Amino acid sequence: MKRALAIVMVLALWPLPRAHADETLYLRLGGKTGVAHIVAESVSLWMADPRVASDFGNINPDHLKMRLEEQICQITGGPCVYRGRPMKAAHAALNLTQAKFNAVAEDVQTAMDHAGIPYRTQNQLMALLAPMQRDIAVR
Ligand code: HEM
Repeated sequence: MKRALAIVMVLALWPLPRAHADETLYLRLGGKTGVAHIVAESVSLWMADPRVASDFGNINPDHLKMRLEEQICQITGGPCVYRGRPMKAAHAALNLTQAKFNAVAEDVQTAMDHAGIPYRTQNQLMALLAPMQRDIAVR
């Protein structure tokens, strides 16, 4: 009986799962390592994706990854400062379509799937990236 009471008390005092309410999106994406992993996988997918590969023909992948890591870290509440160009300036010369933006966004989602990021967390990052379409895609 005492034992049963002890179990009930432990369960009552156990902190309720709060769905990581106080954790930043950055941490839920896996912090520095998690974001680096998602970025590396995304850039690999873009460079192999026939819908957009040609747009990434002349880039330095390591530089792009570094900037993307900073940017995603910053917008998801991580301890980083994005030091790259504004999205409009970085993409203007590429004359990108909305379809290409969608392809790139879809590849980011695939990268998160591969990394085992829960669907809800994926959507939270996508919601932060989606408004960038205004500056990235010109047609
Ligand atoms: C959510 C969508 C996107 C995000 C968050 C994003 C983010 C970035 C960032 C942070 C940079 C680095 C800028 C700098 O170094 O100053 C960059 C550069 C670049 N992005 Fe995007 N981008 C997106 C969509 C696209 C799309 C749709 C394409 C092409 C299909 C694209 C192609 C490129 C290329 C080629 C560069 C390198 C530019 C250069 O080195 O001159 N991006 N992007």
